Amino acid sequence: MSMNHYDYIKVEQDGGVATLTLLREAKLNAMNSAMMAELTDCFRRIHERADVRAAILTGSGKAFMAGADIEEYSGFDLGAFFAFQNKGRDMYRAIEECAKPVIAAVNGYALGGGFELALACDLIVASEKAKFGLPEVKLGLVPGGGGIQKALRAVGPYAAKEMLMTGRFLSAGEAMELRIVNEVTEPERLLPAAASLAQQIAEKAPLAVQALKKLVNEGRDASLETAQAYDRSYLASLFYSRDAQEGIAAFVEKRDPVFTGK
Ligand code: COA
Repeated sequence: MSMNHYDYIKVEQDGGVATLTLLREAKLNAMNSAMMAELTDCFRRIHERADVRAAILTGSGKAFMAGADIEEYSGFDLGAFFAFQNKGRDMYRAIEECAKPVIAAVNGYALGGGFELALACDLIVASEKAKFGLPEVKLGLVPGGGGIQKALRAVGPYAAKEMLMTGRFLSAGEAMELRIVNEVTEPERLLPAAASLAQQIAEKAPLAVQALKKLVNEGRDASLETAQAYDRSYLASLFYSRDAQEGIAAFVEKRDPVFTGK
C-alpha cells in the first residue's frame, strides 16, 4: 500500500516511523477538501500497515496548519459548509482511530482546525516558534472540529474560555504551562525530538502501545469504574500475546526483548 501519491502530503519512512509533512506552504498549510481527504486516506493506511509503528505529523514553512481553508468555504451554503466540516471530522477520526500513536511536531502556527489537528494527535512537540489558537470567534464562528470540548478537557473551563472567547494565540511556552504540549524545542531540534519520542514508542510492544492509545482516549470520558474494567480486560487479552510472553521472558533472562506485534 503506497503512501507516496499525495499532492498535499510528503510521506517519509525511517524504520517503523512514518513522517508526514503538509505541503501547502504558500497558504500556511490551510486545509482544503483535497488535503483533508489525503490525510484521512494516509492515516487509514498507517492504521493497516504492520511496518509503521508510530507517525509524526508536521508542516512545511512557518505554519503547522493555519486552519480550514477560509477561501474555499467562503462561498458555501450551509449544506456545503457541513459537507466540508464532515471531511474534517473524518480526518480527525482517522487519526484518533489509527491504532498507531501520532506525534504532532508543531513547527509554527497551529490555528483553528490546525490546533484541532494537533489535539487529535497523541503527543504534541512544539518548536519555540509555535503558536496555538482557536480564532474562529474572530470570524463569527466557533470551532467545529472538536476543539471546544478537547480544549475544555485539556486545560479546564477558565483557560479554555479565555482561549476561545478572545481567539488569542498562545506561545509554545504558554501551551506547555497549560499542559497541552509534551515538550518545547529549539526550531531545529523539533523533528529530532519528535523522532526520538516516536522511536522510544516504536520499539515497545506494538499491541500494548495500541491498547494504551485506546484506553487513554476512551477512558477520558468514561466513569472511573468502567474505564478501569476496560483497562483490566485489555491486560487480560495481552497476557497471552507472544510479545508479553517475550517481554517477560527477556526480563527474566536479562536480555533485550524482540517484539513482533503478535
Ligand atoms: N485559509 C485560507 N488561506 C489562509 C489561511 C486560512 N485559514 N491562513 C492563511 N492563509 C493564506 C493567506 O490568505 C495568505 O494567502 P495569499 O498570500 O494568497 O494572500 C497566505 O496564507 C499567507 O498568510 P498571511 O495572512 O499573509 O500571513 P501572515 O504571516 O501575515 O499571518 C496568520 C499569519 C496565521 C496570522 C493569518 O494568516 C491568519 O490569521 N490566518 C487565518 C487563521 C484562522 O482564522 N484560522 C481558522 C480558520 S477556521
